[in-house]
Amino acid sequence: MKAIVLTQKNKYPEYTTFNIKENYEYKEKIKIQASALNHRDLWIIKGLYAGIKYPIILGSDGMGLYREKKVLINPGQYWGENEKVQSKNFKILGLPDHGTMADYVYTDKQFIYDVPTHLTDTEAASLPLGCLTAYRALFVKGEAKKGEKILISGIGGGVALFVLQFANAIGMEIYVTSSSDEKIEKAISLGAKGGVNYNNKNWEKQLIEISAGIDLIIDSASGEGFKKFLNIINPGGKIVIYGGTRGKINELIPQIIFWKQITISGTTMGSDRDFKTMLKFVEEHKIHPIIDSVYKMEDQENAFKRMESGKQFGKIVLINPGQ
Ligand SMILES: NC(=O)c1ccc[n+]([C@@H]2O[C@H](COP(=O)([O-])OP(=O)(O)OC[C@H]3O[C@@H](n4cnc5c(N)ncnc54)[C@H](OP(=O)(O)O)[C@@H]3O)[C@@H](O)[C@H]2O)c1
Repeated sequence: MKAIVLTQKNKYPEYTTFNIKENYEYKEKIKIQASALNHRDLWIIKGLYAGIKYPIILGSDGMGLYREKKVLINPGQYWGENEKVQSKNFKILGLPDHGTMADYVYTDKQFIYDVPTHLTDTEAASLPLGCLTAYRALFVKGEAKKGEKILISGIGGGVALFVLQFANAIGMEIYVTSSSDEKIEKAISLGAKGGVNYNNKNWEKQLIEISAGIDLIIDSASGEGFKKFLNIINPGGKIVIYGGTRGKINELIPQIIFWKQITISGTTMGSDRDFKTMLKFVEEHKIHPIIDSVYKMEDQENAFKRMESGKQFGKIVLINPGQ
């Protein structure tokens, strides 16, 4: 079959003929119609991910045909019994098992779900990993409530935009940060009340001015800017971290954390229960993922370059031949 295969560090993967050598006979076979990129794929290409093996077919997101039905796959596999944390058997589709950027993907039956009927194929393909992460971050860890004020950092990101759409669906007051004023305007058109450019020196003051304080922050950047969240967050507020794009968090002042009774928590993808409830929520609220761009499989290098540039607003999708 044809697949997007990574064979070494720091080199874009190739779209090439590839035969899977592992024994996947006990798994179900899904004919992929579309897949989508996550930042994880880029970290793997750059060698910045634990447990990398070569060759590997990339891709955690995908939709396709299984027994003549349109399905999508939960990429968060073998979570285990404890809703609070994944088991040591937890695996993400697309490393160590071969992923979705191929003619076919192989997976256990328990991870196959019907596509919500209101979604197009590209929308369905872009849903699984990012939407699951957003759902758990916002509702399970963030315990988000109608009327609360939320700050979503780096709104151009795939996960961040799902958080925005969910927060909007339950009636939160939404603020965003971004490196791009244009992306902030787009976020406002999708329901945000306001936003600030995190490249401005005074972004934290500007944000406090427009919001008068935030109840819940959902962040994937970490790094230098994180310490400013302690001033932006209201007493009793929560900060949920799902990424570390900008690296280590330094100079957190413990006195602010304990005096303001701030909860800082981490989150990773989600359980099977989270995945099911996320799909139900998407269906009930008729949420359509924001698609930045769609590329053919043979044009995959440009898709990865688009993500690397950080210019995207939403998900980057790959379409299989014949779709
Ligand atoms: N824990 C998990 O389960 C999980 C799941 C999914 C993703 N992640 C992690 O979360 C991060 C985002 O993933 P993604 O797939 O959504 O990536 P993505 O679509 O490539 O988006 C990355 C976004 O990060 C934002 N960003 C970069 N520097 C920033 C900064 N200094 N402050 C605030 N935002 C900044 C940018 O927002 P603007 O363009 O608006 O500036 C960019 O759009 C990655 O690090 C990824 O590994 C973790």
